[in-house]
Amino acid sequence: MTSKTAVNSTATARVLSGIQPSGVLHVGNYFGAIKQHIEHQDRFPGEAFYFIANYHSMTTVGDPQTLADLTQGVALDYLALGLDPAKATFYRQSDVPEVTELTWILSCVTGKGLLDRAVSYKDKVQQGINASVGLFTYPMLMAADILIVRSTMVPVGQDQTQHLEITRDIAGSFNAAYDTDIFPMPDTLLNDDAVVPGIDGRKMSKSYDNAVPIFATEAEIKAKVKRVKTSSTALGDPIDPETDTVFQLFRLFGNPDEVEELRNGYLAGEIGYGKSKEMLRSVMTGYFEPYRARREELENDSDYVEDVLQEGAKRARAEARFTVDRVREIVGLGAATRVGSAR
Ligand code: ADP
Ligand code: TRP
Repeated sequence: MTSKTAVNSTATARVLSGIQPSGVLHVGNYFGAIKQHIEHQDRFPGEAFYFIANYHSMTTVGDPQTLADLTQGVALDYLALGLDPAKATFYRQSDVPEVTELTWILSCVTGKGLLDRAVSYKDKVQQGINASVGLFTYPMLMAADILIVRSTMVPVGQDQTQHLEITRDIAGSFNAAYDTDIFPMPDTLLNDDAVVPGIDGRKMSKSYDNAVPIFATEAEIKAKVKRVKTSSTALGDPIDPETDTVFQLFRLFGNPDEVEELRNGYLAGEIGYGKSKEMLRSVMTGYFEPYRARREELENDSDYVEDVLQEGAKRARAEARFTVDRVREIVGLGAATRVGSAR
């Protein structure tokens, strides 16, 4: 049996996160996750890993062309929004197939009861998603994503914290079962906890038909803003900004002066929904304008986008190979187990 040796070569912090290509990315995804991912590339230069979790999306997206299109869409969105491949490693999960091997190995040290307690499986089944084995073992694959590059920090939203606990549990079980410290315990780096409301006032989500895509056209934005839920306050009466969906959205896009202007106008009964919606439409359209031009450029440069993903995969795969080779040795599947090799 291997004695406890330090195999983890990452002395510094390494950040990793994944985003599922299971729908068109929306404004909630941007303020709740993507914005922070992009900021972290400067905080952890060379040590930020972001990937498109297309294996995970197979649990919900059954149509091959849709999966391929959504995957490409996420790549374009991230690059347009400022992901810099010189600073962050950006790849498709399926280009690092070692992750599926690690998933299997980890599943052999994981009690089924741990997954029985996962709430996201139950939630998704309740939403009508097919109760496949893949959906049930989703957290195993996520643990493998995180552990395979030996990441130490995982920026995610509140809804993913249980998956991180499961990951730490699995890392601990493996380290203990094989008396090793190959896997560091990854910390959860909570994204801004502000939940972005959708146009109906509930949490914005691709599942609720209440989302505004990041790269919506001007006409789409106009139509969505028109549908934003409002109260029945009479014209000239004050509106409470804290409970108003138009304001909750506006504060994400407007600059501090504009936000103050709307807040004061609402409280004084001087701004009604006609005006506030017009203000929201205007800031929403303007906010992503520079990124939109960049996205169009990238759409016409598919070679560049594919190169970025291939390069990212090369880097991530080297890390993954390093981990899996050691894991194979540790569990008894490595070179030392070949017939005739000296014991
Ligand atoms: P959806 O709810 O549309 O299915 P996902 O679950 O795929 O979105 O979310 C991907 C990431 O975006 C998660 O880390 C999540 O925390 C973040 N996110 C999604 N919706 C919102 C929202 N309305 N407000 C804040 N963050 C969000
Ligand atoms: N489950 C995450 C979500 O739905 C996506 C994801 C897959 C992920 N693998 C990951 C996030 C690894 C962080 C680390 O948002």
